[in-house]
Amino acid sequence: MNNKPAHSESSAYQHPHLLGIENLSRENINHILDLAEGYIEKNRQIDKKHVILKGRTLINLFYENSTRTRMSFELAGKRLGADVINMSVATSSVKKGETLIDTAMTINAMHPDFIVVRHPESGAVHLLSHKVNCAVINAGDGSHEHPTQALLDALTIRCKKGKIKGLKVAICGDVLHSRVARSNILLLNTMGAEVRIIAPPTLLPPQPEKLGVEVFTDMREGIKGCDIIMMLRLQLERMENNFIPSIREYFHFWGLDKNKLALAKPDALIMHPGPINRGIEIDTKLADDLNRSVILDQVEMGVAVRQAVLEILSHRLK
Ligand code: NCD
Repeated sequence: MNNKPAHSESSAYQHPHLLGIENLSRENINHILDLAEGYIEKNRQIDKKHVILKGRTLINLFYENSTRTRMSFELAGKRLGADVINMSVATSSVKKGETLIDTAMTINAMHPDFIVVRHPESGAVHLLSHKVNCAVINAGDGSHEHPTQALLDALTIRCKKGKIKGLKVAICGDVLHSRVARSNILLLNTMGAEVRIIAPPTLLPPQPEKLGVEVFTDMREGIKGCDIIMMLRLQLERMENNFIPSIREYFHFWGLDKNKLALAKPDALIMHPGPINRGIEIDTKLADDLNRSVILDQVEMGVAVRQAVLEILSHRLK
């Protein structure tokens, strides 16, 4: 009988939380993606239920709006047999002035096993993780990190292209404010992809070359020969000043349309974390072109990746 674990000790995930991609090794990432791959087919069956998290409790604590991420954590938890509670910040004591830490400690006193947190401040989820005894998952903190988004993007790329290493990936748009871009840059670099960022000069992060990417302000130049075009939403909620002259001009220069896409590889895939703003960062027909756009595949992969993350973190729970 072969009792060897599918992953060696060195690839085992040793962290109690998932706060970012920053401290993950290539082996950690492959471990999560391999496990997630197994859930894709299971999620297409009539019976999607498992019992591996039976008795466990997951609390979704979202201080920012969300459709995909919150729902997919909820589905992931429920499909694995956990009890899932979505705390509605808008109708909670947060509105009476309770601090993040007091809210976290209150939730912690009810013995949850997982808290999934989205917060507008970079670093808030990290801070919270020190105050609780359960596993904490970062579902997006300010413009810092959104690790499960990068993992689901990687799973989508792996399923569609069979590999990540060596692919040319262009991340285009509001890179400055995007936690999705930051987590993706970290993950794609770790996995050996060639990463480019394309943005108007006002929406590039400071010292972008330090991120280990090639930097372009001309989208036509940046997109040339790419395998993957990852479009980003303009994060207007994080902008205090005018970063772009007008939406019309932005779409003209940095929006993805048929003509610009023609400069990428003929089989280049279009990705977008959602929500998409049609006609701002992406032409509406391209967003719906199922031969090129994998935006809805990304949503499907999101549930599988979150199941894998919950399963892996559950091994470290008491
Ligand atoms: C992203 C986010 O919230 O960071 N959305 C998501 O999780 N799918 C991107 C965005 O809001 O533009």
